[in-house]
Amino acid sequence: MTGPVRVGIVGTGGIAQVHARALNSLGDRVVIAGACDIDESRVRAFQQEWGVEEGFGGIEELLDGVELDLVHLCSPPGLHKEQALAALGRGVHVLSEKPPALSLAELDEIDAAQRASGAYFATVSQHRFGGRAEWLRARIADGSLGRPLTAVCNTLWYRPDSYFEVPWRGNWQIEGGGPTMGHGIHQMDTMLSILGPWSEVVAAAARNARPVLTEDLSHAIVTLENGVLVSVVNSLLSPKETSYLRFDFEFATVELEHLYGYSDDNWSITPAPGHEDDVAAAWSLGPHGRGSGHGAQFAAVLDALEAGRPLPVELPSARSTLELIAGIYASAFTGARVRPGDIGPDSPFYASMEGSGAPWGERVAHPA
Ligand SMILES: NC(=O)c1ccc[n+]([C@@H]2O[C@H](COP(=O)([O-])OP(=O)(O)OC[C@H]3O[C@@H](n4cnc5c(N)ncnc54)[C@H](O)[C@@H]3O)[C@@H](O)[C@H]2O)c1
Repeated sequence: MTGPVRVGIVGTGGIAQVHARALNSLGDRVVIAGACDIDESRVRAFQQEWGVEEGFGGIEELLDGVELDLVHLCSPPGLHKEQALAALGRGVHVLSEKPPALSLAELDEIDAAQRASGAYFATVSQHRFGGRAEWLRARIADGSLGRPLTAVCNTLWYRPDSYFEVPWRGNWQIEGGGPTMGHGIHQMDTMLSILGPWSEVVAAAARNARPVLTEDLSHAIVTLENGVLVSVVNSLLSPKETSYLRFDFEFATVELEHLYGYSDDNWSITPAPGHEDDVAAAWSLGPHGRGSGHGAQFAAVLDALEAGRPLPVELPSARSTLELIAGIYASAFTGARVRPGDIGPDSPFYASMEGSGAPWGERVAHPA
């Protein structure tokens, strides 16, 4: 690939500003060549703020109007599949904001389009890319903390009723789910990227306070293939907010406590008795000084593009996280223990996270 990677931004609302800032921080490796939004005033303001020459009202016009290598989907979740298919159909790579799709069925459709296209589809999961997450994956690989035994994966956030006034929030058809799908996905995805694949989930969900059709709270117990048991809580009802990951190994507890992004200072380690020196030696290893954030992931995406490799986070890995989310809903709404592979095309939870229906409120008809 010669010259800067040419990026198009689809949807110029809140998260698109974060994308633009992170792309700008990567210097002349990348240029925002165009943007689109159905709201004309937003795309114009975005162009002005970030010095983007070309602005359009939709993705088709963007793809027709500018030569692009990659589009970033910063649109509401219910649009990701169609927009991904539009770009992949023209051989343009896609980096989609989370969640990558509303359902496993949609993600499998994107996978088929990716195979036919030769271009790659990737999902934003910026917390995987911080230096200490990389450090922890390396320590698991070299065994210096001993075996992982148990973990906690909490997304305890607070969203007032007014948050749900944005029309795409709080419903199954456009947002795709509540905190399990839209918020806890970050922590669950990071946890799985560190500890490895899951093998079973049992869960409960509730709509306890917010004016939504989805859940506003879920609890799950996830068994991983390596036998680790993980307690997962996803909440939008928690005034004292935290994103909390805790990993208990034989020789140490490693904790990450932050809200929307972390630096090295958000991580801590507590040695088990008798392991103070070897754990201190392991803790001193690098990398140091690289926090999580979109910029760290975008740099990895550019590296992959330049090397002709699939872009991170690759689809099979993002699918495993989406399948866990579908499994949490399926377990919560049916009482079943759910394993990978259980949610195939015959399951109601394949085409929608709502599946056979939440036990509260009215069930909303799915689009055909
Ligand atoms: N990775 C993260 O930490 C993170 C944080 C916040 C949001 N997100 C994700 O980013 C996505 C967008 O969230 P947001 O908070 O920026 O929402 P937003 O509502 O602020 O912005 C979405 C934009 O998309 C535009 N849009 C709607 N339909 C469109 C269409 N057909 N074509 C082009 N643009 C269209 C809207 O006009 C709006 O400007 C969601 O998937 C959300 O889950 C990710």
